This record gives sequence, structure tokens and C-alpha cells, in this order.
Amino acid sequence: MQILVTGGAGYLGSVLVRRLLDGGHHVRVLDLLLYGRQSIQELETRAGFDLRVADIRDQAAVAEALEGIDAVVHLAAIVGDPACARQPEAARAINLDATLGLIRSARAAGVSRFVFASTCSNYGRMADTSMLAGEDHELRPVSLYASTKVEVERALLQQPESPMTATVLRFATLYGPSPRMRFDLTVNEFVRSMLVEGRLLVYGEQFWRPYVHVADAARAIGQVLEAPPKAVAAKVFNVGNTQENYRKIDLVNIIREQVPGAQVEFVARTEDPRDYRVSFERIRRELHFQTAFTVPDGVREIAGALEQGDWREPEAAHSNVAPQPRAAVMQS
Ligand SMILES: NC(=O)c1ccc[n+]([C@@H]2O[C@H](COP(=O)([O-])OP(=O)(O)OC[C@H]3O[C@@H](n4cnc5c(N)ncnc54)[C@H](O)[C@@H]3O)[C@@H](O)[C@H]2O)c1
Repeated sequence: MQILVTGGAGYLGSVLVRRLLDGGHHVRVLDLLLYGRQSIQELETRAGFDLRVADIRDQAAVAEALEGIDAVVHLAAIVGDPACARQPEAARAINLDATLGLIRSARAAGVSRFVFASTCSNYGRMADTSMLAGEDHELRPVSLYASTKVEVERALLQQPESPMTATVLRFATLYGPSPRMRFDLTVNEFVRSMLVEGRLLVYGEQFWRPYVHVADAARAIGQVLEAPPKAVAAKVFNVGNTQENYRKIDLVNIIREQVPGAQVEFVARTEDPRDYRVSFERIRRELHFQTAFTVPDGVREIAGALEQGDWREPEAAHSNVAPQPRAAVMQS
């Protein structure tokens, strides 16, 4: 397949692109390179790889990037609640308006598959966390980030008669190493703080969330692209593993086994708007998708890499919430 990956230089994208190339696909990346080009630089000379440094808000660039494309994996976004809160106009323009434009252009260009990266954050604050949220659970987005994802999901799935096979993947919070590392993701951040700084401040240790390894997330996308169209058309799948829902306190206890001696302080919070436990049975049952990694595996990997001296740059280089106003400056 000729696959367009928007946001292909990002944390998930740079893992996914390598996986798709290894699988024999041709991959075109459309990315504004908000966090640099280092994550995909070594791919630029690789056969079957093509980089377009452009903004998904640029309709002409999008139309050009769609030429000859069979499938689109749409990852480009301002990612995370804090990053969206910091630049709300750019977040709306990219995550919502430009994304709806991309979907229209992809349909017009005759693209046969479209995979949209959404998030389990859409479940927001669950009234009762003794239950697990399946795909049909009420969506209660509590941030601009999740609201834009919910709106796009609805628009994408509203046209089931369209010949383009559209699939929504609601990812659990990702963790694990990537060529574009992010230490603003909970598991990665906790390991780094406990190991490098020897201390961690945890807000609202009782809140639940599901977690999935970035390599498993990339594999799920590959599996959806290769599934028969009728198995994935106009469908939503949570991506993760039902056994991998954790409270923050559980993460701390897992990390403590690898990193004893760190000083951990808990700050009571009753008002974290995100508290959700999720069921991943649909993707397991219908697509036979199984995760290969658990959070303890990821903790071992990240701790091992940090101990070897990886990611020595300042934390700001690996975060979506470091001062990086470029997206806002570029167009909004
Ligand atoms: N990381 C997670 O835990 C997580 C969880 C659920 C869903 N997701 C979704 O997965 C996708 C990828 O997330 P990530 O963690 O890799 O994020 P990331 O911030 O590392 O990557 C996003 C990429 O999109 C690019 N981009 C941003 N705006 C652009 C624009 N206007 N035009 C072109 N490119 C642009 C950036 O340069 C970056 O390379 C996102 O859609 C995100 O919402 C991520």
C-alpha cells in the first residue's frame, strides 16, 4: 500500500512509519516537524519513504500529499490536554478544522482507507470506575483536546455510505521508547522523574487510566490497515488491553520495583476530570489483537535506556508542553 502518515515524525508516528516500511509498504509522511526532524532523519534515504514538510492546514499541500495514496493514517495534531490548553486556536484549527478538511480531501482523492487516531480521554470522568468503558460508553470529554477528537469521530463515522473505509482508534495513554521521545506521558514521566531526579510528585494517585505500549499501538494500526474492509469500516476500537488499567499509585509501585529509593510525594486531588477504566475486548475479539507489552515491561525498557544514558537532553526537548509556540505562530 501507499500510505500517508500525517504526524509521522511524532512519538507514535516515528515508530509506526518504521513498522510500515519494514512491512513492505510505501510511506509518505506529512509533518510540520514541530518537534524536529531527528526522529525520521535516518529514513530520508530509505527506499519507499517520502517526507513532505508541510502543514495539514495547507489545503494545496494536503491535496498534493494525497496523490496516489491508498490509505491515510491521521496522527497529526496538537497532542494532549495541556498542549491544547496552551494554544487553543491552533488546536482547534489543526485538530478539528484541518482534520475535517483532510477527511474531505481524502474522500475526494479516492483514498480507500482512513484511520483516525483518537483517544480514551474521550471517556473523561466516568461516574463509576467499577465499570469498564466499552466503545459505546457515553463520551464525556473534559478538555479541548478530547472535544476536538469527539467531533472528528462523529464527522468521520457519519458517512457510512462513503466508499472510504474509515476507522477510529481510541488509544490508551501511550508509553515506551520512541525515536521522538515524550516524557510528558505518565509512565515515561514517572520513570524518568524517579530515576533521574530521584523524586516524583503525584497528583490524584487514585485516578484510573489505561496504558498501551507505543509499539503495540503501531501494530494495532498495521492490523487495521490489513484487515478486510468490512471488519473495520465505520468502526471504533479502543486500543489497549483490559488488564492494563492502572491507578497512578499502581504505576508508582511498579516503578519502585525497578527504581527503589526514589522519594514520592502524593498531592491529594479530588477533582482530576479524567478518571476512566476501559475495556479492550472489541479489538481482541473482532481483530484478534493482543498487546505484547505490559507497563512493567515498558518501565524496565525505559529505566534501562535511561541508565545507559539515552535521552540526556533537557526534559524540554521531549515534551509537548515545553515552550514551542511554532504551531500557533505558523498560521492561526
Ligand atoms: N501519545 C498518546 O498517549 C496518545 C494517546 C491517544 C491518542 N494519541 C493520538 O495519537 C496521535 C499521535 O500522538 P503522538 O503522541 O505521536 O504526538 P506527537 O505530538 O509526538 O506527534 C504529533 C505530530 O504531528 C505533527 N503536527 C502537529 N501539527 C501539525 C500540522 N498542523 N501539520 C502537520 N503536522 C503537524 C507534529 O509535528 C508531530 O510530529 C495524535 O493524534 C494523538 O492525539 C496519542
